[in-house]
Amino acid sequence: MKICCIGAGYVGGPTMAMIALKAPGIEVRVVDMNATRIEAWNSSVLPIYEPGLDDVVRQTRGKNLHFSTDVHGAIRTADIIFVAVNTPTKTYGVGAGRAADLRFIESVARTIAEHANGPKIIVEKSTIPVRTAETIKDILAANARGHQFEVLSNPEFLAEGTAIADLHAPDRVLIGGERTPGGQAALQKLVEVYAHWVPRDRIITTNLWSSELSKLVANAFLAQRISSINSVSALCEATGADVDEVANAIGRDSRIGPKFLKASVGFGGSCFQKDILNLVYLCEHFGLPEVAAYWEGVVKMNDWQKHRFAAKIVRTLFNTVADKKIAVLGFAFKKDTNDTRESAAIAICRDLLAEQARVVVYDPKVPAEEIRAEVLGRGPDEPRLSIAGSAYEAAQGAHALAIATEWDDFKQLDYARVFAGMQQPAHVFDGRNILDLPRLRDLGFRAYGIGK
Ligand code: NAD
Ligand code: UGA
Repeated sequence: MKICCIGAGYVGGPTMAMIALKAPGIEVRVVDMNATRIEAWNSSVLPIYEPGLDDVVRQTRGKNLHFSTDVHGAIRTADIIFVAVNTPTKTYGVGAGRAADLRFIESVARTIAEHANGPKIIVEKSTIPVRTAETIKDILAANARGHQFEVLSNPEFLAEGTAIADLHAPDRVLIGGERTPGGQAALQKLVEVYAHWVPRDRIITTNLWSSELSKLVANAFLAQRISSINSVSALCEATGADVDEVANAIGRDSRIGPKFLKASVGFGGSCFQKDILNLVYLCEHFGLPEVAAYWEGVVKMNDWQKHRFAAKIVRTLFNTVADKKIAVLGFAFKKDTNDTRESAAIAICRDLLAEQARVVVYDPKVPAEEIRAEVLGRGPDEPRLSIAGSAYEAAQGAHALAIATEWDDFKQLDYARVFAGMQQPAHVFDGRNILDLPRLRDLGFRAYGIGK
């Protein structure tokens, strides 16, 4: 069997590497129009940082796993074509700021129709609005030239930073297909691919629309838990309750469960916000404004939490941070990834710069130019923003530290040394609740957490 995947990003690269590893008899080709990215996949420094990924790629690349820019050739030879291209929020026209921009999906569908030379199974791996398969089928059918196409939905549930572990032992694999003989045969073929390593009872099969919708709903539920605990964090700060203690107390109820109850400076990442806004747009489209408003609240709470954190820094530093140096530790949207998309750190830096602070950022994995690009966008250069080569360098002469990402390194810093180099009184704002605040207070810090 031959598989190809169009889109060599955070999803396409790791998922295909795992299939290649677990199913050595399957030939896997990952293609992308971005030549630089493909070059990196073929080099010793992969384009994404993900624990364990290097090892999987080293074992498979050049054997049954290949990266190239030859999209057309890969389409011709593949039996199954995964589509893992980006589906960002639309920034223009109808639905701007909410709807998913499906132009990459549509363009791939047209390319497949044009270059297919036989029957193909197309697998939606990207996260897309419910009923997108209909659009893909429509485009394929109108350009089929006698070839038969089956479209399946197989959303990805991996989280960045734990992608390899998630792919190795997924909670479930979800595959949606049409209830036609052709659709069911295609679905079984994809089940066989995953059955190389995923127990059958973890492979869920549904109709197309349930599968497409389940992906959006899964992300909405996960993000909703974070916004719920973050809303409670504000109440904790007002009342003297401790949000970690509340999370532990409620999470011990097996109906609630302990996961995704970590209060934070706000969720980031390329998907939660995008997918909820997409869900909101769908609800509005289908005439369900109350449902739309309910889910939109999750994003609004997240925005509020990010600004609330920056506002607390300003308020605590005697209501002004103008010309004060603030060290922002961590820029990735979570630990163990170099991905900065929608990271809460972006909003924190922008808010502090708007207050005329001097912001110095340190992240162990994110390059300086990327930090500058994320914070400043297309705007002019900002001399108040600088990037440090270590946490100690960032903290030197700073009035405050703000922990934005929960990197393990930040727990192990020599805080006595950090304190000695800072302006007094030295403040620390732990946006991830990873530090031992009482110990920091013993060292002389004025220390604050989220919901504490
Ligand atoms: P990404 O931006 O990292 O990668 C997408 C890749 O597709 C890019 O390299 C781009 O060059 C390529 N591409 C776009 N159009 C193309 C075309 N016509 N031909 C060839 N290549 C093309 O995106 P990602 O983070 O991998 O996400 C992909 C999809 O998976 C999105 O829909 C996302 O919502 C979903 N998803 C992402 C994650 C995650 O953790 N990042 C997890 C689950 C689902
Ligand atoms: C999330 C989902 O967990 C994946 O299942 C899904 O496949 C993926 O989105 C996607 O569709 O892209 P990801 O965004 O990579 O994965 O990472 P998460 O671990 O979910 O973290 C998202 C954000 O929430 C991070 O900023 C994280 O710090 C924050 N978070 C997470 C909290 O603030 N508190 C928590 O308790 C958990």
